[in-house]
Amino acid sequence: MLYDFTFYNPTRIHFGKNAMQALKGELASFGDTVMLAYGKGAIKKNGIYDEVTKTLQEAGKTVIEFSGIMPNPTYKKVLEGAQLVRDNNVDLILAVGGGSTIDCCKAVSVTAYCEGDAWTKYWVNEEDVDNKIVPVASVLTMVGTGSEMNGGSVVTNEDVMLKNGRVFPPKVYPKFSILNPEYTYTLPEYQMVSGIADILSHLMEQYFSGDDNNVSDYLLEALMRCVIDSTPKALENPKDYEARSNIMWAATVALNTITGVSKMQDWQVHMIEHQLGAYTDCAHGMGLAAISPAYYRFMYKFAPEKFARFAKKVFGVHQNGRTDEQVALEGIDRLEQFFKDSKMATNIHSLGATEEMLPLIANSTIVGGGYHDLTADEVLGILKEAF
Ligand code: NZQ
Ligand code: ZN
Repeated sequence: MLYDFTFYNPTRIHFGKNAMQALKGELASFGDTVMLAYGKGAIKKNGIYDEVTKTLQEAGKTVIEFSGIMPNPTYKKVLEGAQLVRDNNVDLILAVGGGSTIDCCKAVSVTAYCEGDAWTKYWVNEEDVDNKIVPVASVLTMVGTGSEMNGGSVVTNEDVMLKNGRVFPPKVYPKFSILNPEYTYTLPEYQMVSGIADILSHLMEQYFSGDDNNVSDYLLEALMRCVIDSTPKALENPKDYEARSNIMWAATVALNTITGVSKMQDWQVHMIEHQLGAYTDCAHGMGLAAISPAYYRFMYKFAPEKFARFAKKVFGVHQNGRTDEQVALEGIDRLEQFFKDSKMATNIHSLGATEEMLPLIANSTIVGGGYHDLTADEVLGILKEAF
């Protein structure tokens, strides 16, 4: 059954090969000064920067550039962007890039006019956003996080070695997002598969919770199958538009909150990965792929029926007279094999983790959710397993 819920998502999506044509019309709704935010330069190499700046010029905007946003954006970078916003009275922040750029821009949006320390207020105490915010919009170039249509903003504070995620309310979501699957063709394979691991993890984090057999579970199974079917095609031919467009939209739907309605949701794999990221700066999706098999081999015992359903519905495993536990384990083996076949990370050692880091990561991980709330010792056990 479905519990009562309210669903609202204000982000307008322009999807497809001609999606950029919508930018000029969208810009008309905002003031004159646009902050063009981007990463370390990929958009200058693949031509997206030229396309966007041409449209900004045609629309008569004053453009302030905020560049160099790094993967796993830092709070220092957020403060730099916030200063630029205040100095130039920015009317719109246009994030052109992946989850890191978009997350950083949402963080800049809420931080620019925040009185006091925004990190403590928003990423530690999770207080309501009561100060002026600056609208954010995005042109997506890297697929995975769903940041283009949600309120998520994950920021690393290097001073305290914490990578904290905050889900902001709909007023902070991008006002519009432009999604052209062709823009993702230039992604290095490593980033493409990292993003795919992230999508699958978002779907599993929502799926493995509650046992209510509702429409959300069916949607999640369908999306997982779509991602698993599309991945080898995208690996074989990165310009396979059908595969890339399916992966792109699956990523958005996977975390625009629609598949999570009436689910408790887990997110413990993400919490562990975020702290792994704080210590190693690894690619988010690769961290998730490396942790997931160890985590699920620990967790399936608390919900064998649901894990057996996953094996059967997502990977087509047959019961063949076996117990749910046996079927569940085959499902997790198949998941791990999918990660290997898709060239995703299979251990955290290869992502820069050292044995000394493991207790530090375990002790700083925020846990709670899913079928069983982990203790720090259990997180450590999972990390050793994933090492
Ligand atoms: O910096 P540039 O030069 O732009 O290069 C980027 C970056 O190195 C490159 N790239 C992006 N588009 C490209 C491209 N290279 C060639 N062609 C293109 N079209 O890809 C690299 C990775 O980009 P990044 O934005 O870091 O990746 P991703 O989208 O995976 O974002 C990861 C961040 O999002 C957070 C993660 O924790 C991490 O900090 N997350 C955000 C979430 C949310 N907002 O809801 C949820 C997620 O679970 C996640 O935690
Ligand atoms: Zn994620």
